[in-house]
Amino acid sequence: MNTVLVTGANRGLGYEFVKQYSEGNFNVLACCRDISQAKNLKTLTDESENIEIYELDVGNLENIKNLSKQLQDKEIDILINNAGIYRSSTVGNINYDEWLESFKINTIAPYQITEAFLNQISNSVLKKVISITSKMGSIDDNTSGGSYIYRSSKTALNSMMQSLSHDIKHHGIATLTLHPGWVRTDMGGMGGWIDAYESVEGMIKQIKKLTLDNSGKYVDYAGKSINW
Ligand SMILES: NC(=O)c1ccc[n+]([C@@H]2O[C@H](COP(=O)([O-])OP(=O)(O)OC[C@H]3O[C@@H](n4cnc5c(N)ncnc54)[C@H](OP(=O)(O)O)[C@@H]3O)[C@@H](O)[C@H]2O)c1
Repeated sequence: MNTVLVTGANRGLGYEFVKQYSEGNFNVLACCRDISQAKNLKTLTDESENIEIYELDVGNLENIKNLSKQLQDKEIDILINNAGIYRSSTVGNINYDEWLESFKINTIAPYQITEAFLNQISNSVLKKVISITSKMGSIDDNTSGGSYIYRSSKTALNSMMQSLSHDIKHHGIATLTLHPGWVRTDMGGMGGWIDAYESVEGMIKQIKKLTLDNSGKYVDYAGKSINW
């Protein structure tokens, strides 16, 4: 059985990743910020033999390092950096602390988590690092402006993933920077075009197709390439 680690696993896309991967016979290491608040995830875990829950605040580097130590003997085939935040921002109305917080959670944490778990990923069979980004991080696609905080944190995530794709190739690790679509979750809101099931089903297909030869791409859940 292969193993996948998912961050932000208690709700939205993270929860759906846990559900679909566990149904697909993966061992799932489901990480969430506060287990006591993760009711649905706990119920899912009780019903399934292949899900383990761990507490991880991705904004806390000590927490990341401690979890990596705790899981040092595991092989992690697929790491999914999914946890993320959206803070609204318009000209004249930007909270700079929230901007820094967003960089910490959306950009820096995926790097820190990947670095912390590099051994476990290198020791696995599939060796894949995935970050859930957004099309809003595409500079090419930015024709409407706004969302300074979110857009820039995801653009920086894309840039970080591109460097990572070169730097960890020699470990045999492939990377994929994935846009989930506009999805009906707490973040996406009810106006989203697709539900979490469709988004995650599509993203898992793209992750399955990922190899070292096609590593370093920026695509959406349906496999459509996005310009950086
Ligand atoms: N939904 C969309 O339309 C859409 C579109 C493009 C990209 N995305 C991206 O997809 C990913 C998942 O989004 P979603 O729609 O599922 O959002 P969501 O429903 O708001 O869920 C966000 C998840 O991230 C977790 N999280 C936030 N800060 C964290 C921290 N410091 N430590 C650990 N976990 C933390 C949340 O945990 P708590 O419950 O503890 O807060 C929650 O599990 C994000 O990276 C987002 O940017 C979403």
